[in-house]
Amino acid sequence: MRFLIDDANVEKIKEIYTYYPVDGVTTNPSILAKSKRQPYDVLQEIRELIGPDADLHVQAVSRKAEDMVAEAHRIREALGENTYIKIPAVPEGIRAIRILASEGCRTTATAIYTPMQAFLAAKAGADYAAPYVNRMDNLGADGIGNTKIIHDIFQKNGLKTQVLAASFKNSYQVLELCCYGVGAATIAPDVIEGLLKNDSVAAAVDAFIHDFEDLCGEGKTM
Ligand code: G3P
Repeated sequence: MRFLIDDANVEKIKEIYTYYPVDGVTTNPSILAKSKRQPYDVLQEIRELIGPDADLHVQAVSRKAEDMVAEAHRIREALGENTYIKIPAVPEGIRAIRILASEGCRTTATAIYTPMQAFLAAKAGADYAAPYVNRMDNLGADGIGNTKIIHDIFQKNGLKTQVLAASFKNSYQVLELCCYGVGAATIAPDVIEGLLKNDSVAAAVDAFIHDFEDLCGEGKTM
């Protein structure tokens, strides 16, 4: 499972990259709005930080397919041809994905709340489909269950599209999809940090250091 950061705070991305084995960064318009900076300024900085080969996903905001395609061209021009263009899986978006796929442009179908959206996006040629796990849970649907169904639909139909699971609010949601072997997960920094947060682990590490210092003296190491 590829492991991405769902954020546009450059300092935070830098910090997470320092500690964790990250494959790239995803953004959306709401995440970019939180930065209160011009989108391309932030995105250029992120691209520079993660390097030209890392995954970067950037969303188009137009409502019409032709305009989405034009945005995709501008995004790729500014941020590199391997940037994934996120396109909402609505009818105009499915049309845009088909056009972009025929041009060899990488796309991520986004705003996915149902398996049927994911199936149609995959048939249209999307590289990734991004089901919103926690947002589905909030609607009383089964976010993890639907994401597993989407993964199975791709596998059983021989579709090359991979799941890029998004909208996580806790470690359990990440674990479930990790166990299922979905293609990728994009996770907000606070949830990433929560993946290793465990008082028992911290207490065990403290006890080891304490016992060693009792034996050899304070501040001593092997
Ligand atoms: O881009 C999709 C994802 O970021 C949505 O996450 O936390 O807004 O539900 P969230």
